[in-house]
Amino acid sequence: MRLPLALGGALALVAAAGVLPRDEPHIVHDRRHPAHVARFPPVRRLDSDAEAGLKSIPLRIGLAQQNLDSLEAHLLAVSDPTSPTYGQHWSAQRVASTFAPSRESEDAVRGWLVGAGIAPERVEVAKGRKWVQVDVSVGEAEELLQTEYFVFEDGAIGEWKRLTIPASLAAHVEVITPTVQAKRVGSSIQRRSESTNKAPHPAFDQSAAVQVPSHFPASLANCSTLFTPACYQTLYNFHYTPTSTSKNSFAVVEFTPQTFIPSDLDLFFGNFSPALVGQRPEGVFIDGGVFQNTSLGFENPVKSSFDISYAMALTTPQSVQVLQTGDIIESGSFDNYLDAIDGSFCTFDGGDDTSLDGVYPDPAPGGYDAQDCGTISAPYVVTVSYGDDEVSVSEKTAVRQCNEYGKLGLMGMTFLYPTGDNGVAGNDGFCLNSTGQEDPNGQIFMPLFPASCPYVTAVGGTQLADGKTVLDKDAETTWVGTGGGFSNYFTMPSYQASAVTSFLTNHPPPYTDGQYNNSGKARGFPDMSMNANSVAVIAAARLLAIPGTSASSPTAAALFAMVNDARLGKGKAPIGFVNPVLYGKKMQEAGVWRDITTGNNSNCGTDGFEATVGWDPVTGLGTPDFVKLLDVFLDLP
Ligand SMILES: *[C@@H]1O[C@H](CO)[C@@H](O)[C@H](O)[C@H]1NC(C)=O
Ligand SMILES: *[C@@H]1O[C@H](CO)[C@@H](O)[C@H](O)[C@H]1NC(C)=O
Ligand SMILES: *[C@@H]1O[C@H](CO)[C@@H](O)[C@H](O)[C@H]1NC(C)=O
Ligand SMILES: *[C@@H]1O[C@H](CO)[C@@H](O)[C@H](O)[C@H]1NC(C)=O
Ligand SMILES: *[C@@H]1O[C@H](CO)[C@@H](O)[C@H](O)[C@H]1NC(C)=O
Repeated sequence: MRLPLALGGALALVAAAGVLPRDEPHIVHDRRHPAHVARFPPVRRLDSDAEAGLKSIPLRIGLAQQNLDSLEAHLLAVSDPTSPTYGQHWSAQRVASTFAPSRESEDAVRGWLVGAGIAPERVEVAKGRKWVQVDVSVGEAEELLQTEYFVFEDGAIGEWKRLTIPASLAAHVEVITPTVQAKRVGSSIQRRSESTNKAPHPAFDQSAAVQVPSHFPASLANCSTLFTPACYQTLYNFHYTPTSTSKNSFAVVEFTPQTFIPSDLDLFFGNFSPALVGQRPEGVFIDGGVFQNTSLGFENPVKSSFDISYAMALTTPQSVQVLQTGDIIESGSFDNYLDAIDGSFCTFDGGDDTSLDGVYPDPAPGGYDAQDCGTISAPYVVTVSYGDDEVSVSEKTAVRQCNEYGKLGLMGMTFLYPTGDNGVAGNDGFCLNSTGQEDPNGQIFMPLFPASCPYVTAVGGTQLADGKTVLDKDAETTWVGTGGGFSNYFTMPSYQASAVTSFLTNHPPPYTDGQYNNSGKARGFPDMSMNANSVAVIAAARLLAIPGTSASSPTAAALFAMVNDARLGKGKAPIGFVNPVLYGKKMQEAGVWRDITTGNNSNCGTDGFEATVGWDPVTGLGTPDFVKLLDVFLDLP
């Protein structure tokens, strides 16, 4: 193993940087997806600093982390059930030092800046040597990056299409901001042009909510009309009372202004989980997060109410944390809550991707005047029912965030994300046509991120088949909205290679390589599924039956949180990254998975992918039997 930190400390004051020749050829290092470029053209060139209201552009250069090429191997060593070091998770310090950027990378970036005529004293390096910062004029930025800067509709500045850097820097630089970090697509961007709110898209099909009369007779016979906690418990054989609650931790993430109304929880608990009436989740507030109570309506409470109600009802008496992220003015996104969990992930002075994430400290009046970096202790299981179209995130930004899930998996954390509610289309039914533009008649599929990241557990949706109840065997079929498919950014991880290759070989989808990534080398998702149809929730005092994979993710998370309870009770480690176990032989042998073999995730003018025997990009491995799943995890060291 290399010892970059010790060396770096000793050499910190030596200006050893070689100076790069100014004329070194540039290569493309990161890019915005062409679909995103077409959808969000800039409004004008950034032709003077005054016009942007900026004294300078705060250029931040994220140095390449070392040893990322062995991240998957390190992660498998602690999470593959056949590994002799299964469950031997790493400390935060070991993770931070293993992946910390090298001295060489810092020197290379300094050499480039100084060689371009920037005085050495203007160049600063963040504590922990992750980021190099320099404030530059527009002219300097354009010369350094051989590019042009633009102003976008929401006032953001950046490059339009691609980031180029000198070829010799490629191995030393991860991301540079502000450059190509893309703005989000779909309704979220429309909301953003009215305000600066940066919360990602909740994966919930609110338009399909059905109001249910409050005297509705909830019963196991009626789960197809109103799916309650008891329906989940029965269908998935999920009856478990935790006993290690003080050692365990379980969190749902919400982005302000999403909130819950306490009386909604009590109505829900009163109907479906009476012992919980009066109980509340534990608020963990990140970057000014707040349980706001001034803008309620229907949309703001519905998602939080759902996540919290099920997380609590299915794990009572486990205490459930709500990682409430972002202030009321600009909200926050995935990188913001990850910053709070892992200080080594933070940027120099707040924010990770200035177009996607909340930027803290927030200078707006009433904004959160600080930045939460490594401020909270990492919960074991985290579920986040939000997602963005993969194209809306630049490739380097997506990879950086995905690697962070892998690093936290090494530390014993489990992350669950839903696969979206629009079948093979993106948020709001977003599809592309053959010229790469958004088009309702387009037939190009749109994977959802972070579900497409191989280091999270992506959860799709099922529903009860016609005439079936939760008491029937083979009760489930595909929920038609479930997202699923193949990533354009992430390669197929080894843990799923056999399952996914078998699907592609035996059931080749009838689409071109232009419609989805059919290279046979891409990450396929979901990994597993749970019911996503007609789920009971109370929002603003109304009892509703709502469809959406936002229902599958927290219920699957509850199940894994209870596996942790049982393992912690036996003195074992938490389960951490679960996918290698989920795809493993023992799960098959124990009959954990109920294979869903009917239905499809049609959209983009196609029938989408078809559910079939074995893994498929519709329902993944299938739905779990909790008791059998628990046995497999309890057998592991
Ligand atoms: C199921 O719901 C219907 C109303 O949709 C109701 O008429 C029926 O009695 C319910 N069945 C049971 C067993 O509760
Ligand atoms: C609304 O939230 C604020 C801040 O958390 C709190 O002080 C206030 O009591 C709340 N009001 C109601 C009606 O719950
Ligand atoms: C793709 O969609 C764009 C925008 O809707 C449209 O202008 C263009 O003609 C479409 N291209 C094709 C090949 O259909
Ligand atoms: C498909 O996935 C592979 C493996 O990740 C990648 O190399 C390739 O660039 C992807 N193709 C497209 C069109 O995105
Ligand atoms: C896909 O599912 C839709 C909706 O359930 C159905 O109408 C369609 O026939 C299915 N397509 C195929 C090929 O089975």
